[in-house]
Amino acid sequence: MQYAHISGWGKYVPARRMTNDDLAQLVETSDDWIQTRTGIVERRIVDEGETAITMAVKAAREALQVAHFSPRHVDLIIVATFSPDRVMPSTACMVQDAIGADGAAAFDVNAACSGFVYGLGIARSMLMTGEYSNALVIGTEAVSHMLNWEDRSTCVLFGDGAGAVFLQSSEHPGGILAVTLGADGSGGQFLTGPTVGNNYVPQIGADLDLNHLQMNGPAVFRFASRILGKAAKESAKAAGLEMEDIELFIPHQANLRIIKSAAKHLNLPMEKVFVNLQKYGNTSSASIPLALCEAIEEGRLEPGDHVVMVAFGAGLTWGAATIQWARALPIPQEPHWHTPTHWAWYRLSPWRSLVWRATLRLDAWVDRIYRLIRHRR
Ligand code: COA
Repeated sequence: MQYAHISGWGKYVPARRMTNDDLAQLVETSDDWIQTRTGIVERRIVDEGETAITMAVKAAREALQVAHFSPRHVDLIIVATFSPDRVMPSTACMVQDAIGADGAAAFDVNAACSGFVYGLGIARSMLMTGEYSNALVIGTEAVSHMLNWEDRSTCVLFGDGAGAVFLQSSEHPGGILAVTLGADGSGGQFLTGPTVGNNYVPQIGADLDLNHLQMNGPAVFRFASRILGKAAKESAKAAGLEMEDIELFIPHQANLRIIKSAAKHLNLPMEKVFVNLQKYGNTSSASIPLALCEAIEEGRLEPGDHVVMVAFGAGLTWGAATIQWARALPIPQEPHWHTPTHWAWYRLSPWRSLVWRATLRLDAWVDRIYRLIRHRR
């Protein structure tokens, strides 16, 4: 039997900070209101040239570097996002090209803020079949592009960023023990994004803003408070554990009040709960991998520890994953001297892509000339 282990992790957040006081210059709000109702102090916002793709690429490279793994040998890339640069091509394909992961299959998942946990579940299943031996799972969001900066009920909540994990299969038990996913489309109208396509008929009401993210905050709050604890318990149970066995709880970083209510419901002391939303706000599908990366960086995880990560989001969707942390895996690692070759590959990748695109264009020209000659004959 194959197990899916996390052997690499990486994150990227834009350098541009937006504090609550900055927001108070834009809408009628205050640092006090935002902190008391949400726990958020500041968030990061993409700058010119930064997108869901560029952030995903940086997080992915960092994850591969931690795992000492060559981008050329990546089997699978799954990107969770609801704020891609384009509906197609997928963000995952753009990441595949940018890192030069020639042999990888790549696709996007959209389960809003639960997307990363959905991606983790899919990757785990694909690794467990034995058909794939590794996968990059990335959550990346440039939510700020779709916010209405005049709507104080939403623009204060979100931020941009990306997080990634690299999974490798191993016969060594542990890793991602269980993933439980759920959805309830009847609550879809509580949290919606911009429409795409001309035939879309709004079903929600005349005041619907079709260009921006819209939310019924209190309805989402009630749903989240109910589902976080329930999903966490279900996932732990699927892994054969009780919540008492959990060393670290990583909830979706949306609102500190929701997190505290879930912790109370689960009888978990706040010392076991990881919180970083004060720095980044709600980064949607990037929230869990960003939090996981920072928990690792802060030394909050010891080998053998059990972690429950749980997300909720638009859809409505939810998902929880239970992990047994094992840093030292019996997975053969590339020697450290290979790392410069990975960086050389990253530098070469845009050229590789350029040459490939030029070849395709040349091919099209040759085809056109051939058809012209044949037609004239
Ligand atoms: N600054 C100041 N006042 C604000 C405000 C802001 N940014 N946003 C809303 N308000 C006002 C409202 O207009 C309302 O005023 P009123 O009483 O005069 O009508 C008052 O604050 C209370 O609004 P309410 O919506 O009841 O606040 P709340 O305590 O429910 O908190 C949220 C609002 C959005 C913070 C909270 O509902 C929430 O976090 N929901 C979940 C959101 C979420 O997690 N979404 C992402 C899912 S992935």
